[in-house]
Amino acid sequence: MSTTYTHTAVITGAAGGIGKELARRLAERKINLVLVDLNEEAIQQTITDLNLDKEHVIAVKANVSQEADVKNYVQKALDAFGRIDYFANNAGIEGPTGLIEDLSVEALDTVYNVNIRGVFLGLQNVIPVMKKQKSGAILNTSSSRV
Ligand SMILES: NC(=O)c1ccc[n+]([C@@H]2O[C@H](COP(=O)([O-])OP(=O)(O)OC[C@H]3O[C@@H](n4cnc5c(N)ncnc54)[C@H](O)[C@@H]3O)[C@@H](O)[C@H]2O)c1
Repeated sequence: MSTTYTHTAVITGAAGGIGKELARRLAERKINLVLVDLNEEAIQQTITDLNLDKEHVIAVKANVSQEADVKNYVQKALDAFGRIDYFANNAGIEGPTGLIEDLSVEALDTVYNVNIRGVFLGLQNVIPVMKKQKSGAILNTSSSRV
């Protein structure tokens, strides 16, 4: 892994538990960070909490289930740092739990849109960048639920 800010990581769900820990560990290795989350305030708090170097981090507010937002976070990463070496496709929600006959179709759609569509859109937009670079690594965070 890079030690001189030659590499860039995009992390979705970066303000959450796993995303924030990924950001901490990658920052320690001097990797440029693109922190993506629905909650912009929480991304800023993450930057403050981790005392990240402002020259090597950008925050992008995005809903990963929206194609335009995904295209925007990829473009912002390229504009800021020129490449994407690591992609933590990590944003996800748990949604309500219960008996299937008690759950709403709307709840299913919400979970599906973030956990499936959001992951798909991230891959669809980041893979071409990595193919062009002829390098890159992707981590899709999964769950025992959808
Ligand atoms: N923590 C666990 O035990 C656990 C277990 C299994 C799977 N996971 C998976 O790991 C991933 C991260 O989990 P976590 O524990 O850090 O969760 P978390 O709730 O702490 O963080 C999730 C982050 O994703 C963001 N987010 C939610 N919807 C979004 C959207 N539409 N667009 C952009 N950002 C959005 C939230 O604002 C939040 O900051 C998730 O995909 C989750 O399903 C976690």
